[in-house]
Amino acid sequence: MISIKSDKEIALMREPCAICRDTLLFVEKEIHAGMTTQQVDDLVYKYITSCGAIPTCKGYCGYPGSACVSVNEVVVHGIPGDRVIMDGDIVSVDITAGKNGYIGDACRTFCIGNVSEAARKLVRVTEECFFIGMQGVGPGTPLFDISAAVQKHAEENGFGVVRAYVGHGIGRDMHEDPSVPNYGRKGTGVRLKAGMTICVEPMITMGGWRTITDRKDGWTARTADGSWAAHYENTVLITPDGYEILTL
Ligand code: MF3
Ligand code: CO
Ligand code: CO
Repeated sequence: MISIKSDKEIALMREPCAICRDTLLFVEKEIHAGMTTQQVDDLVYKYITSCGAIPTCKGYCGYPGSACVSVNEVVVHGIPGDRVIMDGDIVSVDITAGKNGYIGDACRTFCIGNVSEAARKLVRVTEECFFIGMQGVGPGTPLFDISAAVQKHAEENGFGVVRAYVGHGIGRDMHEDPSVPNYGRKGTGVRLKAGMTICVEPMITMGGWRTITDRKDGWTARTADGSWAAHYENTVLITPDGYEILTL
């Protein structure tokens, strides 16, 4: 069941979404080579809680971090820990904030210092995938038009589209219907309606689409081929005449 948010609910949802945006802007200023992924998580925890919000990732299905901090070949769900961020790395920081009974969810991939041209292109194209995916979206748009546009832009650039992880509806719960894959066929999927809130989150690799989950921690998802991956996510509201990005 895809929930339709009332104007009142949307007003409540704006705050956690704005907190996600501000947290990521803060992380962007602070993140640097030499930090551990745990130190990034500490920044996220402090910022979100200082806003009176809850980092809802913590404890979600037993997840230990406040953020997912995924370095290079880690696609998503990088558990914060001792890994030291190095010059030349790309680091995705995926966060959720809960406030007013609603949740916001956003992710950025940061380039640390002297990043290769190829990896910079990956990060840029992953962001472009989001915005190209959203082009022309509004009430009546078939959901998988977004998916198809994301996939097309990634593959045209020679990149892989992760299959095992997808975007999702969001609201009172972090993961609601519908699933929002980054691959699919134009003209298919449910038609979007005003008041739907969805997370669109391209996860793109420099190689193939296959991923493997770390068997010890049960979370860390790496590319099967070791290629680097980037992730970009916003919480989006479908409005009567288009859409609004709530986490930007
Ligand atoms: N923020 C992620 C998403 O985009 C989910 C995080 S999983 C958790 O859906 F376990 F870390 F919470
Ligand atoms: Co997220
Ligand atoms: Co999400």
